[in-house]
Amino acid sequence: MNVTVFRHERDAAVALADELLAALARRPALVLGLPTGRTPVTLYRRLVELHAQGRADFSQVTTFNLDEFLGLPADHPGSYRAYMTRHLFAPAGIAPAQVHFLDGMASDPEAECARFEATIAAAGGIDLMVLGIGANGHIGFNEPGAGLSARSHRVVLKAQTRRANAAFFGNDPARVPGEALSMGMATILQARRLVLLAMGRGKGRAVERMVNGPVTPRLPASFLQLHEDVEVMLDEAAAERLTRAQS
Ligand code: F6R
Repeated sequence: MNVTVFRHERDAAVALADELLAALARRPALVLGLPTGRTPVTLYRRLVELHAQGRADFSQVTTFNLDEFLGLPADHPGSYRAYMTRHLFAPAGIAPAQVHFLDGMASDPEAECARFEATIAAAGGIDLMVLGIGANGHIGFNEPGAGLSARSHRVVLKAQTRRANAAFFGNDPARVPGEALSMGMATILQARRLVLLAMGRGKGRAVERMVNGPVTPRLPASFLQLHEDVEVMLDEAAAERLTRAQS
């Protein structure tokens, strides 16, 4: 893993947006894997800025989001599709036909996961996957446990994850859906390049275990050690334990 520590969150967002711009210049029909959550907001804001300046053309990209709540209509403000439309797709001119989600309203979630996997394969796989990390080391909604599902699957969310997602559910974790659909770790690891963003002290322990700890389903992010092309972008607070472990 290549780890880069930035002074501020915004510096990491600018660096990753520049990388995306360079990748788009090489391959306008780039296939992207994208996360939601608080962390990528700064990146999406930067991409929207670049688009407004006429420096980023997303008209040929295809995107795959990592996860979606189960039982939530796409137009619910708490859905990850609504989040993506708000933060990136609408302001950056990315049309609905270019974007792919696991459908949280699918009547047959298992069939929906298989459909999603087949769509990724038909797109030729994911070129660049942007990731965040949960304080418990989850990636997408691959939660820590005794084992991991390789491919896209249905998950029961941990209480900590439901608390972290409460903002769009009246700050009430009980109203956050208890289940979700998530891309599997093997699907994530098949992307050609992974870039993980982690900001703030709250992520420090998970980041340190991801980089230095054993590969274990108890910390799904540790599986990123198995990939050949991983960039980890941190701010100083998220890197603090790592720097301490290395000094
Ligand atoms: C969401 C996702 C999650 C988040 C993680 C961190 O699509 O992939 O794994 O990246 O929960 O969330 P924030 O950025 O809100 O700390």
